[in-house]
Amino acid sequence: MNQFLFGAATSAYQIEGAAREDGRGLSIWDVFAQKPGAIADGSSGEVACDHYHRYPEDIALMRWLGLQAYRFSVAWPRILPEGRGRLNPKGLAFYDRLVDALLEAGITPFVTLYHWDLPWALEERGGWRSRETAHAFAEYAEIVARALADRVPFFATLNEPWCSAFLGYWTGEHAPGERNLEAALKAAHHLLLGHGLAVEALRAHGAKEVGLVLNFAPVYGEDEEAVNRADIYHNRFFLDPVLGRGYPESPFLNPPPMPIQEGDLEIIARPLDFLGVNYYSRARVAPGEGVYPVRYLPPEREVTDMGWEVYPEGLYDLLKRLSRETSLPLYITENGAAYPDRWHGEEVVEDPKRVAYLRDHLEAAFKAKAEGVDLRGYFVWSLLDNFEWAFGYTKRFGIIYVDYATQRRIPKRSAHWYREQIQKKPVLR
Ligand code: FCB
Repeated sequence: MNQFLFGAATSAYQIEGAAREDGRGLSIWDVFAQKPGAIADGSSGEVACDHYHRYPEDIALMRWLGLQAYRFSVAWPRILPEGRGRLNPKGLAFYDRLVDALLEAGITPFVTLYHWDLPWALEERGGWRSRETAHAFAEYAEIVARALADRVPFFATLNEPWCSAFLGYWTGEHAPGERNLEAALKAAHHLLLGHGLAVEALRAHGAKEVGLVLNFAPVYGEDEEAVNRADIYHNRFFLDPVLGRGYPESPFLNPPPMPIQEGDLEIIARPLDFLGVNYYSRARVAPGEGVYPVRYLPPEREVTDMGWEVYPEGLYDLLKRLSRETSLPLYITENGAAYPDRWHGEEVVEDPKRVAYLRDHLEAAFKAKAEGVDLRGYFVWSLLDNFEWAFGYTKRFGIIYVDYATQRRIPKRSAHWYREQIQKKPVLR
């Protein structure tokens, strides 16, 4: 039987802090966070969980949890402060230390190259609207592979390009905060092109298991056409081209057209070793009114602090569907929930709803696995409470509570629960 990895996930900008240290360049999130109103609590990732300095303590917590793998991202602007060209050795040295410390703790490093923190210098030259950024990404991928592929077995190129393109360039909720569909579609294509070029660069420089992380929202509804339209937007838009099927036909793609050049679709469809699946909730839709092709229906069941419906069956349905569409091994690279946790000095922060959420989703995942889905791992989002993008520090996703005033870490009940689950499932190793 294949080894099954129990892990937890984080990303650089959300936890590292040390935004101006050791030669790190600015990212689009540093600049976006300065915009009045962009972040709910007016905060930024400037300090975050101070993981850049506290990583030994955080790895000790991972060890206590019994994590078998840890998914984290490398901050591109730490490695290449201007996005391309000049290398910053101190930035690379941080990830060198982190990887060595993980290995020493017996934890497998699972690296994401891009979790949304584009170097600001590249944004000034067009960001993901520009084809050049895809090439810059491949150069950066090569540098990271040369430095870490001897010790890191898993590399994911992008995290959730859907969010980078559509939230970053269409709705403007995320950095760089543009509101322009044409820019978003260009960004989407250049992200995917960058992914394909990075796959080549990673493999050429020693990476073993190479994949991509996508976010999915299985769609439910009575009306087939509405479901299909929403499914294209939420699920197929990035998945189809990566699986070699090209972009799905969609009413909102035409006009404006995607900037596809000859050979791009082949690069985008380069073979992968795994697919990373991020799942939080589902969507329910009905036919739209007026200019809107679909209408989103309100949640039927209870929601998390994000307003996202708790729907573990969606994870089961999604895994079954993906295993029909591709034979790639699957990893659940993110799954978790925000709840308004409070700490008043106790040893353990009680978070019964998160325990229930994780229990039900893990159960759904194992049901799919038992029915033959090639599921190889599960990563909780997130190890620590952290900077939740446009929500700042107002949403807590961690299984470990962070008291930001003191940077103290307090395991929640869910951390204790997860630790027990990992201990209980030795047969899967
Ligand atoms: C995902 C992101 C991750 C985190 C969770 C809640 O979309 O990849 O960074 O914000 O949502």
